[in-house]
Amino acid sequence: MSVGSHATVLLEEAVDGLNVRADGIYVDCTFGRGGHSRLILARLGEGGRLIAIDRDLDAVRAGGEIGDRRFSVVHGTFGQLREIAVCAGVTGVDGILLDLGVSSPQFDNAARGFSFRYDAPLDMRMDASRGITAAQWLAQATESEIREVIKNYGEERFAKQIAAAIVAARARGPVDTTRQLAALVAKAVPTREPRQDPATRTFQALRIHINQELEELSLALPQCVRLLAPAGRLVVISFHSLEDRIVKRFLRDNAQADHLPARLPVRARDIAPAPLKLIGRAQRPGAEEVAANPRARSAVMRIAERTTGRADILGAAA
Ligand SMILES: C[S@@+](CC[C@H](N)C(=O)[O-])C[C@H]1O[C@@H](n2cnc3c(N)ncnc32)[C@H](O)[C@@H]1O
Repeated sequence: MSVGSHATVLLEEAVDGLNVRADGIYVDCTFGRGGHSRLILARLGEGGRLIAIDRDLDAVRAGGEIGDRRFSVVHGTFGQLREIAVCAGVTGVDGILLDLGVSSPQFDNAARGFSFRYDAPLDMRMDASRGITAAQWLAQATESEIREVIKNYGEERFAKQIAAAIVAARARGPVDTTRQLAALVAKAVPTREPRQDPATRTFQALRIHINQELEELSLALPQCVRLLAPAGRLVVISFHSLEDRIVKRFLRDNAQADHLPARLPVRARDIAPAPLKLIGRAQRPGAEEVAANPRARSAVMRIAERTTGRADILGAAA
């Protein structure tokens, strides 16, 4: 795939899940290259509106080329959703989409430093205009911080050995390229997983940490519920179990009716409805989509609908 294009995952399914109303207001929190946004726009009527967000300036530039008066794109994070909605003059919306993780243009652009397939500076920031790079973080973190990140975000069994190898290497000189890190990890990991590069888990862990991906998701989910109008839809596509666990728990906690004390009489009108209702089960891409786009293989999509219930929301823990 050439740098610049992104094969959208669960395109029809996600936009169907939003239940797009012709005159509705929608937020695409992860514009990427606009695969979902374009289909939402195709389903909106003249009175509809779509606000897109992305933290990556290349994505925002791509959004700027859409040229549709119903559409606007904002450079920011979905953790700032409330603020972005206020600036856009919006107090309630009919649907919000989060298609998490990195886009193919980010991954395939060697200079961004996300991939061990190319030799490049170890950057990994989705928003290259702020924050510290993975190389800067590896230069300043303690061995135990490096170990914890690799263990927790990479679910890597050999986090201890990898962290020790990084700390030993940086005493000799900076660890600041993708190839250097991939080679260090390959030497430190004693066994191989089938069909997986030994550096896969470490690279995933650093990316999640550098971009504060789980914290962003936990910040965004309660804001989504507050911003949704009754009957508004929330659609979230996750790409690994750490993300999906946060989404699944958040939806479960906010979609069930209050637990009532056993054997106490309660009138129906005293039971506060939960703010969300789950729509269907978790959906995964079919075999045909996975064959055409291997990146889709780990995707899980969950959908919920805003009820008229109270919006005192149980938070999401990263
Ligand atoms: C999987 S891609 C989205 C692809 C898009 N749905 C499409 O069809 O082209 C994820 C995008 O979300 C952006 N992103 C990830 N985390 C973000 C965050 N916390 N705030 C805003 N954008 C984020 C990334 O920069 C990337 O462009």
